[in-house]
Amino acid sequence: MTWIFTFFQSSIGKKILMATTGILLSLFLATHLLGNLMLFGGAEMFNNYVHSLANMKPVVRFAEVILTLLFLAHIISGIRVTLENKRAKSISYKISPGPETTKLHSRSMAISGSIVFIFLVFHLQTFWYSFQNMHSADADFYDVVINSKVGYNNPLIAGFYILALLLLALHLRHGFQSAFQTFGVGDSRYKSLIETVAVFFWLVIPLGFISIPVYFGFIK
Ligand code: HEM
Repeated sequence: MTWIFTFFQSSIGKKILMATTGILLSLFLATHLLGNLMLFGGAEMFNNYVHSLANMKPVVRFAEVILTLLFLAHIISGIRVTLENKRAKSISYKISPGPETTKLHSRSMAISGSIVFIFLVFHLQTFWYSFQNMHSADADFYDVVINSKVGYNNPLIAGFYILALLLLALHLRHGFQSAFQTFGVGDSRYKSLIETVAVFFWLVIPLGFISIPVYFGFIK
């Protein structure tokens, strides 16, 4: 068992952990978007969807534990890889200046990742936490998401979501590029197929999420 810990302490182990947890979190985002798109179907459709989730609480709770572990592993290994890169660069800088693009890449991942994390804390504290305290059968979840003071009818909230989701797209774009390097698929004959799938995750899904605050905050 200790070999697993030793492996995840190594530089490549940390990168594999980051890439794997990142891909699993992207799969969560795809299912999360499918559920949230029900907001476009109106209050009844969205409320029925949330009630159906509430009716399978044990499954949802289990998924939440797995999600929390994935987020924690991704964030902790992200911090460690960033610190490691910084240390390595300050040493190599004394010999010769390092490549600017790598520095920019690593810095933008740390910044976009940190802002997405702040967004996530706010998001859970408003939507997820409010939903936990709404137990009655006629609870109006749609109203919390759209019409409450933390809902999308508030242009500040809608604007904050749009900004955070754009940064999420940037984070995922660079994240998928790094994952390809880690798994060595850059030269694979499936390269173009893999890149097309990646576009779905880093571009189509964030745009799908963005359509929600754009529509409910500025169009409806
Ligand atoms: C417009 C975009 C989004 C909307 C409308 C939205 C909506 C919601 C709602 C309504 C909940 C509460 C669901 C419940 O407890 O049943 C929720 C939970 C959650 N959201 Fe989002 N979300 C959005 C974007 C995101 C993004 C981009 C992330 C990740 C970076 C995210 C991560 C989560 C997580 C981890 C939960 C808790 C999951 C659970 O307990 O099942 N959300 N979201």
